[in-house]
Amino acid sequence: MSQIKYIAGKEPHANETRVIFKNVDRESWDPSIETYLQDGGYDQQKKAFQMEPGEITAEVKTAGLRGRGGAGFPAGLKWSFLPPNNDKPVYLICNADESEPGTFKDRYIIHQDPHQLIEGMAISCFAVGANLAYIYIREEFPEGAQILETAIAEAHRKGFLGKDILGTGFELEIYVHRGAGAYICGEETGLIESLEGKRPYPRIKPPYFPAAMGLYLCPTIVNNVETLCHVKHIIGMGGENWSKTGTPNNTGTRILCVSGDVEKPGYFEVQVGKVTLGELINDMCGGLKAGRKLKAVIPGGSSAKVLRADETFKLGKDDDAKEISIWDIPMDFDTLAACGSMAGSGGVIIMDDSRSMSWVINNLNNFYAHESCGQCTPCREGSLWMKKITDRVVAGKAAPSDIDQLDAVARNIDGRTICAFGEAASWPTESFVAKFRDELIADTNPELEDAFVNAEALTAAANLK
Ligand SMILES: Cc1cc2nc3c(=O)[nH]c(=O)nc-3n(C[C@H](O)[C@H](O)[C@H](O)COP(=O)(O)O)c2cc1C
Ligand code: SF4
Repeated sequence: MSQIKYIAGKEPHANETRVIFKNVDRESWDPSIETYLQDGGYDQQKKAFQMEPGEITAEVKTAGLRGRGGAGFPAGLKWSFLPPNNDKPVYLICNADESEPGTFKDRYIIHQDPHQLIEGMAISCFAVGANLAYIYIREEFPEGAQILETAIAEAHRKGFLGKDILGTGFELEIYVHRGAGAYICGEETGLIESLEGKRPYPRIKPPYFPAAMGLYLCPTIVNNVETLCHVKHIIGMGGENWSKTGTPNNTGTRILCVSGDVEKPGYFEVQVGKVTLGELINDMCGGLKAGRKLKAVIPGGSSAKVLRADETFKLGKDDDAKEISIWDIPMDFDTLAACGSMAGSGGVIIMDDSRSMSWVINNLNNFYAHESCGQCTPCREGSLWMKKITDRVVAGKAAPSDIDQLDAVARNIDGRTICAFGEAASWPTESFVAKFRDELIADTNPELEDAFVNAEALTAAANLK
């Protein structure tokens, strides 16, 4: 690691531990297989293909790898949900939709280190017994799709894909599938529908858990790009060793994508839980813009609940309980959940005191209203109602009671839909109303209250006729 040189001005920060992003912005690096092989590429595939498939899954479990796509679900556990004694084909799908606002990590892996992903996928396919795998990549990444297709062809020519790989008799084909450019195509069952050539309407779980009834109703594993890359390093380091990076139950490294009101936004690969939000903002991102104060942070992609800069968070229980400020939050799955938000997809959005919270929540609501697939009523109607109410707040045309209405609409989506988009869309509104109620109300017009009430009365009267 110490000998690796990076392009001037793009060197990793001292707080970073580059594993997945080792080759991103590396000097004299290109995405060709020759460059990858010179650096020890595909050695872990060779090693894994000497192991029993079950041993690989066991290593992934020992490592404690949690999915990097959003939910943080343990990858080894997910793999072990595949039905035993199954006689249907098993598929593996790499989720390269990267649709969560604030998240921009998978694209760099694909553009600069595609063979790392292919190697991680080949090992994962061998572990779960998949002879066919897909990389579902969003339509907006045409260059990434081409890079992956070239890399797959190279891996084929060198015998890392195809028939009888490395003389093991194992066969694997990987295909790149370009999505149609929709947020909901990132939701795993919507993705599967789209891959089958249909509208990406998410499926109901249960029964359609992909591991049991996925692509073409066959057992299917869906994992994020970054998650699958980690598998290669788990085999290289051994699960036990790999788990020594990061913190207990929050092992390994992960890439944080920082956007918003900091001097140097960008991507940073850190050991999970070893860097606090304060260190991320002040040390790694060069601090806030001059003269500005921190107002709020969305720590895990746009669906994560917002944190207020002046909040304190109670962590631990009984004698071990302690109160910390936003600056001291370690950026890991469990702590961010305990703080009432989530680590999600690693997209950290920083907002300073120049931001209007009405504008921010309206911006998010515009996105969710646009992206709802429309399949279930609370989400289809509710996401549009939330947008319409915050449109009015921003325009100064909302009554104060609209804010309660906004909250009620969000709470009637949350938990009442087919897929987790319902929560993704309602959590931002619920948290902004809970934490910035006064500011939202200050942007409303109390004079409209009577007009609003009168309009309601008129409507009620009209309905009675
Ligand atoms: C609305 C919505 C959008 C999602 N978008 C993505 C995405 O773009 N990329 C991704 O990897 N996971 C996304 N997910 C999560 C996937 O459904 C799935 O949990 C993930 O791909 C599993 O991979 P992992 O276990 O490796 O994290 C999304 C989930 C929802 C509800
Ligand atoms: S929650 Fe929204 S996005 Fe998900 S299935 Fe229902 S309408 Fe579609």
